[in-house]
Amino acid sequence: MIWATVLIWATPRFDRGTPDATVKAMDGQSDIPVAEWLRWQLECGVDETIGEHPVNRYEIAAAASPPAARAPEPAPSVPASAPSNANTAVAPPSRPAAAPPPLTGESAVHTAAELAGQANTLDDLRSALETFDGCALKHTATNMVFCDGNPQARIVLIGEAPGAEEDRKGLPFVGPSGRLLDRMLKSIELDREKVLISNIIYWRPPGNRNPSTSEVAMCMPFVERFLELVDPEILVALGGPSAKALLGQTDGIGKLRGRWFSYQTPRLPRPIPARALFHPAYLLRSPAQKRLAWRDLLAIREKIQSL
Ligand code: URA
Repeated sequence: MIWATVLIWATPRFDRGTPDATVKAMDGQSDIPVAEWLRWQLECGVDETIGEHPVNRYEIAAAASPPAARAPEPAPSVPASAPSNANTAVAPPSRPAAAPPPLTGESAVHTAAELAGQANTLDDLRSALETFDGCALKHTATNMVFCDGNPQARIVLIGEAPGAEEDRKGLPFVGPSGRLLDRMLKSIELDREKVLISNIIYWRPPGNRNPSTSEVAMCMPFVERFLELVDPEILVALGGPSAKALLGQTDGIGKLRGRWFSYQTPRLPRPIPARALFHPAYLLRSPAQKRLAWRDLLAIREKIQSL
């Protein structure tokens, strides 16, 4: 979202309403057709507008950041043989304190595991995620999307990653696929009072791109701890990426759906029966597959009744 406002700010003159509308390039000289400019923004992941007026976030960030901290004056280095008035020596110019190095993929996973492992409640886990700075998606998302539903639920559903509406509202599955998910749940007498819903990624990937392997890896310790803390009786993975990450499988969703797996972590008291389901977004695109999804829903209802 930051990109949206920055990019719009960078192209201030927009000749509205004509079929050949153009925007002024940043060199102030050339005119770019609006269609081309929008296509370029889409490729950058800017797929919606979030405000009426452009905001220059570089200026806001610059105004908010405190002046660079001064490094402590280094003690003047005095050679052993220096005369006693050597304290008049000029200290080397002080450099601003270095920003902490960004977490690399591996250290981000390590930090995530450490933070998640210390959480003893879902509130702790949410705070730990808010503190976690290893995942760059956090910086382009509007909101973190943690979970929705009943934390005491017997069933947990885990999707892939927030989309545009989820990002805006900070809740999982509140867009078109969420509305279908609600109908799917209703068909087996479930609703958000009876399930808990989350994702394997907590921030929206720009332009709804697929999350990268390392983004999934650094969120997984939080997902695992989430499941340990809720300790549900049934786990449902929504879509291929979620099923693969949770069930440790490499097959596609077409092969993973239709059977039961076992989900286990060292801190879970017992394995959780787990099932993969077609993602509701996929079912919206391929309604013919609803027939198979219905079979999986019936299997889930049967399992609930047997517990
Ligand atoms: N798709 C997902 O996988 N998760 C959401 O929260 C929304 C859409």
